[in-house]
Amino acid sequence: MKSNRNILVTSALPYANAPLHIGHFVEYTQTDIWVRYHRINGHSCTYICASDAHGTPTMLKAEEEGITPEKLVEKNSSSHLNDFKTYRISVDNYVTTHVPENKEITEEIYNKLKKNNHIYKKNIKQSFDDKKKMFLPDRYVKGTCPSCGAKDQYGDSCEVCGSTYSPMQLIDPISVISGTKPTVKGSEHIFFKLSEFEDELKLWISKNMDITLVNKLEEWFKQGLKDWDISRDSPYFGFPIPEEKNKYFYVWFDAPIGYIGSYLNFTNNQKDEEFYNFWQSGDNTELYHFIGKDIVYFHTLFWPAVLSGAGYRKPTAVFVHGFLTINGKKMSKSKGTFINASIFAKYFDPDFLRYYFAAKLGPTPDDLDLNIDDFIARINSDLVGKLINIASRSSGFIHKFNDGLLADKLINRKIVDVFLKKANQIEKNYVERNYAQAIREIIDLADQANQYIDEEKPWFLAKDPEFQKKAVEVSTVAINLFRILILYLKPVIPGIAERCESFLNVESMAWSDKDKLLIGSKLNNYKNIIDRVEKAHAIKMIEESKI
Ligand code: MSP
Ligand code: ZN
Repeated sequence: MKSNRNILVTSALPYANAPLHIGHFVEYTQTDIWVRYHRINGHSCTYICASDAHGTPTMLKAEEEGITPEKLVEKNSSSHLNDFKTYRISVDNYVTTHVPENKEITEEIYNKLKKNNHIYKKNIKQSFDDKKKMFLPDRYVKGTCPSCGAKDQYGDSCEVCGSTYSPMQLIDPISVISGTKPTVKGSEHIFFKLSEFEDELKLWISKNMDITLVNKLEEWFKQGLKDWDISRDSPYFGFPIPEEKNKYFYVWFDAPIGYIGSYLNFTNNQKDEEFYNFWQSGDNTELYHFIGKDIVYFHTLFWPAVLSGAGYRKPTAVFVHGFLTINGKKMSKSKGTFINASIFAKYFDPDFLRYYFAAKLGPTPDDLDLNIDDFIARINSDLVGKLINIASRSSGFIHKFNDGLLADKLINRKIVDVFLKKANQIEKNYVERNYAQAIREIIDLADQANQYIDEEKPWFLAKDPEFQKKAVEVSTVAINLFRILILYLKPVIPGIAERCESFLNVESMAWSDKDKLLIGSKLNNYKNIIDRVEKAHAIKMIEESKI
């Protein structure tokens, strides 16, 4: 294990046109667990995020609400940041892609691409809304699928037969914005020569991407890399392209650059040695992006090519997760399963959701399901029934018979060693993002701790004054096992871990503290650390989410 690595981590930047739902927190939890694990293991780990401000949806949503896009972005990004805090997502910086630092760095990267001859202009034809006087993004045109004849399909692909096409191929197209029939209009666009990067990307992908994704990417290479249109005509909410009239950078151009923009905002726009190490030379630094499976193309083809073309380093790796379904189905507003993160947190401890996601997250981009009944059963059984129970059933004897002082010796060192020996395995699981396996290992240990208590029967010992000391000693072993479990789970349930640390009367624990045993020290009074989860709360939450 290398020590003191210098790591920079990002999560995908959520769109600033809506609040966050619990699906987003699959990603933010996955990232945060990884970051927290590396931090408590002594590495420097900077975690950067932001809200993704630009694009047509933001512009139209602001119009609908009768406010400026800037105001809308401000409102939603502050609600995003609130949710991040509620779910204890430990970002070091959270801004929006609209900050001046991002404008500056986006222009700089664009100018470098231009100077390095990676940019050209070409005339293209697009659907145009005459009434609204704007070009229509593919998703804003609907009509009949040219392949199968299915009605009411989007302008980019058919949900019925899966074929892809351009909006101009739709039969009977209409503009989603004005309901009128779009016309076709030409305009000059700015393209990035993605095709030139094919060999470099293939090599980078083979070294830096997980094998499950390499296959998908090979498919894209087979279809051939097409040059990328990075400009949009006004009206558009975005950064104007330098030296062009009424042209803006396409949101997906400045969004990943927003990782750098937010980093620069964090460091007060210092373009110093550390900046160049992280973003240009990449010397002795590691850069990781956590993303969902829907945005792989942007992060594994466009983004590394743009970085490379502008003389920047490429990511060390891109980690991809799957999508959240609820009760086996896509989240749905009418079923009440499109659950806003802030609504979920009104009914349940956010650490419970973190725990549940962790218990289901592996290193591959498989979808994961939140089944509400399973969630309730799992939290009550694992966290309440197995984990916290160790503390609640042990602390009483220590307070009753020994003034809250733990015994001054450990009567069973063997079981403690069994727990400590698991550290390497759990560590490996965290590093490899195999959180489900880490949780299995930890809950298996919790079972062993409860078994130890069951066998030693401290409640029975407590009845006889002669054995009360033994009851304290048994409980001391149990509390030590509990402390190790809490340390192992700390990256997953930071809020619960903090409450447990204060009950255990210990400073914030690092991974290297694992064998600091608690002997003869004072234990604080056990206060209810968590409550059981009630089905009635879930029912109310679903009700509140229905629209
Ligand atoms: N703004 C872009 C990302 C730009 S990154 C330079 C975007 N935003 S998003 O709000 O749609 O999604 C943000 C992240 O959340 C993405 O990685 C996406 O995959 C993830 N998720 C959004 N819905 C999700 C689920 N239902 N389940 C799991 N992850 C989900 O894409
Ligand atoms: Zn079709």
